[in-house]
Amino acid sequence: MKKNILVTGGAGYIGSHICVELLGQGYDVTVMDNLANSNEKALRRVEEITGKKLRFYEADIRDRSAYDEIFSQNEIYGVIHMAGLKAVGESVRKPLAYFDNNVSGTIVLLEKMKEHHIKRIIFSSSATVYDLTQGECLTEKSPIGNSTSPYGRTKLVIEQMLADLYHSDARWSIVMLRYFNPIGAHVSGRIGEDPNGEPNNLMPYITQVAVGKREKLNIFGNDYDTPDGTCIRDYIHVMDLAGGHSKAVRKLEEQGLFIYNLGTGQPQSVLAVVHAFEKANGLKINYAIAPRRAGDAPKYYANADKAKTELNWEAERGIEDMCRDSWNWQKNNPEGYR
Ligand code: NAD
Ligand code: WQD
Repeated sequence: MKKNILVTGGAGYIGSHICVELLGQGYDVTVMDNLANSNEKALRRVEEITGKKLRFYEADIRDRSAYDEIFSQNEIYGVIHMAGLKAVGESVRKPLAYFDNNVSGTIVLLEKMKEHHIKRIIFSSSATVYDLTQGECLTEKSPIGNSTSPYGRTKLVIEQMLADLYHSDARWSIVMLRYFNPIGAHVSGRIGEDPNGEPNNLMPYITQVAVGKREKLNIFGNDYDTPDGTCIRDYIHVMDLAGGHSKAVRKLEEQGLFIYNLGTGQPQSVLAVVHAFEKANGLKINYAIAPRRAGDAPKYYANADKAKTELNWEAERGIEDMCRDSWNWQKNNPEGYR
């Protein structure tokens, strides 16, 4: 029988790509999402891309009764827990909403999983849990803590809670995946990132400038101690990230607590991304140098060796693929899913 994976937040940007990957790998997929930051159309397009059906429950992860329905109607093998609010700036303005949604929501999910004897979970964590003042090339052993935002602290608290849960009951299988900077889209151009309002992140901003929705990109600082003065990150193609999740699902066969970085290990500056985008797509991006953005670390990127050794996973796509696929999505869907 096919294994059925519950994907919380499965209608979102990364979640929809994970659904494509899982269906392609022969899993059954059940999605739980309250559509707070997504559109059901993404799921219909996942079905169109894969030619397979998934099951969708429009529900909040804090809603206890929703789980009784989901777990009684589906034999869930394990959970990929992606549901959460993720806007760093908004989390500074609304910390309680972020802790309630992300942390309280995860507590309810874990309690209901326990009640229904499901003890396999993959959690969407973030490089933001690292102490980004301590070192640039981050391994899973690098110091954590010192997050600069309430959003980051929700990820940290959830990681700590999952570790405590494992220490209380070693029958759990828990995989925490620390994503670096996911960008790109499915090669079909049918699903991709669709931010509400003005984008917070670099790549959606670039694609909205390219499509004419924004006048220019503001580059936040060119006076950092980096070769071209702009900040350096580890951008990873969302389909490579999705591939990391199907490898992590196999890891759920083993009981234990596992942590992996999902990144490419290839650092790129903001200016390098802008130039790669221009080259990959034969376009010019209008940009200006603006003041630094509060809270930005100058440089960090992943050491992704552990995922390679233990999950047999590594990123395959380069920055030009990411830029091409991001643009392909944006130009075919200038208004996103709307
Ligand atoms: P997204 O906003 O597109 O997806 C999150 C999904 O969760 C959305 O569909 C949203 O409607 C849903 N959701 C939010 N709160 C919910 C709730 N209470 N109940 C049910 N559904 C709820 O974001 P994304 O970029 O796809 O991120 C997915 C996950 O990965 C998040 O947990 C995010 O924190 C994490 N992450 C993202 C990045 C990134 O840069 N995109 C980096 C590291 C980690
Ligand atoms: C990348 C670089 C900006 C926009 C965020 C979260 C992190 C994780 C991934 C979830 C930085 C610069 C950006 C713009 C710019 N998310 N930039 N002009 O900040 O590295 O990471 O997403 O867990 O927690 O903080 O990503 O895309 O916002 O920025 O110059 O309009 O692009 O200063 O150097 P970031 P980003």
